[in-house]
Formats: sequence, structure tokens, C-alpha cells
Amino acid sequence: MKVIQLDPSLAYRPENENHQYRNYEDSPLVDRVKMTYTLMHTHQTVEFVKQKLSHWGSCMHRKMTVMEALSLLDDLVDESDPDVDFPNSFHAYQTAEGIRKMHPDKDWFQLVGLLHDLGKILALDNEPQWAVVGDTFPVGCKHQKSIVFSETTFKDNPDAHHPVYSTQYGMYEPNCGLENVLMSWGHDEYLYRVLKFNECSIPEEGLYMIRFHSFYPWHTGGDYQHLCNEKDRKMLPWVQEFNKFDLYTKTEELPDVENLRPYYQNLIDKYCPRIMSW
Ligand SMILES: [Fe+2]
Ligand SMILES: [Fe+2]
Repeated sequence: MKVIQLDPSLAYRPENENHQYRNYEDSPLVDRVKMTYTLMHTHQTVEFVKQKLSHWGSCMHRKMTVMEALSLLDDLVDESDPDVDFPNSFHAYQTAEGIRKMHPDKDWFQLVGLLHDLGKILALDNEPQWAVVGDTFPVGCKHQKSIVFSETTFKDNPDAHHPVYSTQYGMYEPNCGLENVLMSWGHDEYLYRVLKFNECSIPEEGLYMIRFHSFYPWHTGGDYQHLCNEKDRKMLPWVQEFNKFDLYTKTEELPDVENLRPYYQNLIDKYCPRIMSW
């Protein structure tokens, strides 16, 4: 049994832990996980991502508060996640509380922990899970080996046979910066767009963590350096710092949400408008 990617946050894993995270080989949930990635890697193309961006990027679909969005995640179990099999709303509080313990002075970072997966509400609006959850990767250029399951899952993706999109740089200039790269469509980019659209005042590092937290081939695999610029290199340690809480606070011990809610409502009020457009 092995974990596919070498993960710098392994150093932060709780000791005597008998659970192995991000196990894509023989986790009890592996069949479900692999099916989600096969569909994702077959259908996420440049064309598909552009369509989704124009559909969801307008943020004209719902109006609701952050807490209302969070409660929608009570109905969502992430089918790409080999680690947990409980609703995503608990994961939001677990991540935020992990950050609060280690970074009591950074309330915006704690809020990022709470919010980071809210984009998964897409799955409740009839988007298939392969267009919502899971690791992200750049479209419009060669699919790299650092993408989980990539050896077998891209063969039916039309972009993998495209004369430009199948090349190392594809449609991009060298070191163009990740902000200028089209990522596979999912909850990271959607929530980033929602927070920008609603003019939330979360610092840039926080928005960046949200936008790229699922880009494992980069922040954990060390890949795609040829597309990165100075800003990406500066932001990488923040994304990695976030990642260790996203991953290693996942336990079956569920947080007391009722007790925690007032604290986080204060943070939401500080950084976000009350009613947001989604
Ligand atoms: Fe996520
Ligand atoms: Fe997460």
C-alpha cells in the first residue's frame, strides 16, 4: 500500500495515526473514487471549462447567506474523497478549528477553513460530482503524470489528442502564472469567483488558497512549474499550510457545530456581505 503523491504536510500527521490519507490504491472507497476521476479526466476539456465559467461565473443562480450555503453541505458526501464518508459540513468546521488552534491570530485564515469547500454546493444543483470535487489540473496543455490515475483515465479526453492542447505548454506562454491558466472546473474556482463577485474582504493569500487548494499536482506533486510565475511561488507556502489542515483534520470524531456557530458567524460578518450572490 502506498500514497501516490509525496506530501510535504506528512510531517504534520498526528502520531500513532493508523489511517492513511489520500490512499488511491486500496482504500475501502477506491472504486467510487476511481469512477469519479475517470469521468472527470474524460470530460474536462477547454471547451467544457469555458462553458461552466460562463454559466456559473455570473453568480446569478441563488441569493443566500454563507450559513445557508454551509447547511446545504449537510446533504453532500464527496465521492472523490478516499478518506471520509460523512457530510461535508462537518469537514468545514473540522478544518476551521484545526486552523484556529495553530493560527489563533489569523481569523481570516480560520474563515478560509470554514468556507473553502462551499463551492461544492454545485453538486446539489445537478452538476455531476466529476465537475465539482476532486483534484484539479490545467486544461489546454499536456496532462502531466502527477495527476492521480492519469496513466489510464485521459485516453478518451479529446484534448489529449488535440494538436495544441496535448503539448507541454499548450495554449499558454511559459511562466504565464496560474491565475492565467484555465483549471479543470470544480468547487475551487467557483467559490473563488463567488467571493470576488461579492467583494468579500478576505486577504489575497486566503483567496489564493481557496482557488488552488485542490491543485495537488502542483502544491503537493511539485509539477507545472513551467506555468508558474513569481506570485505563484510566493503563494505556494500558504496553499501548503492550508492543505495540512484540509487533509489531517479529517477524523470520524464530529465537531459540535451548534456551539461553534456563533464564533464563525462573527468572522463571516467581518469579511463577507450578509446575503451573497451564488
Ligand atoms: Fe476542497
Ligand atoms: Fe476540503
